[in-house]
Amino acid sequence: MSKHIHPVFENMLSRQAKEKFLNQRALVVWLTGLSGSGKSTIANKVEQLLHKKGILTALLDGDNLRTGLNANLGFTSADREENIRRVAETAKLFLNNGLVVLCSFVSPTQRIRARAASIIGKADFLEVWVNASFEVCAQRDVKGLYKKALAGEIKNFTGLDAPFEAPKAPFMVLDTAQQTIEESASKLVDALLKKIKK
Ligand code: ADX
Repeated sequence: MSKHIHPVFENMLSRQAKEKFLNQRALVVWLTGLSGSGKSTIANKVEQLLHKKGILTALLDGDNLRTGLNANLGFTSADREENIRRVAETAKLFLNNGLVVLCSFVSPTQRIRARAASIIGKADFLEVWVNASFEVCAQRDVKGLYKKALAGEIKNFTGLDAPFEAPKAPFMVLDTAQQTIEESASKLVDALLKKIKK
């Protein structure tokens, strides 16, 4: 596949030079959890708070990327794997440009998240589990998808007829049934700033 490809990375301006320019340490923050658990809302809030602290970020979100870069992918396990592979490669591009990258994807299995971590590099990958039960997410049903899935109108729905495996050793767990979005976001930002600020 990569037979006649000759990548040249060593002439590029280094990540280190860009981190110095931005006065921050680059990182990927990977939010995983059920649809409707609060990942995107938290990621948006975290991005705003970091922006106020002078941190340059990028936000990658499942629903958004599925309208563009990943528009040709569905929700079979093969498509989800390809979705996450592309997202992880994209996150790595931003990471190598010195940014703090916030990724908000269901990314439902250990295998899929391990793949993302290995593409990005474990040292730069912080897994955050946005934890709310299927029942709580179905109760919220912000997008109306749970109603449809429970009526059998959506196949391979995470938590119903497609698996969600809880992260084994996440950097942080944010329990959105127990605390507000603001509380979750500020808890995460506090922990992140200790790592990001040089
Ligand atoms: S992932 O599994 O490949 O990581 P991703 O985060 O990109 O998923 O997209 C999830 C979003 O797609 C959900 O928040 C929801 O709005 C929508 N969606 C549509 N169909 C499904 C489905 N079958 N399972 C989960 N989410 C779905």
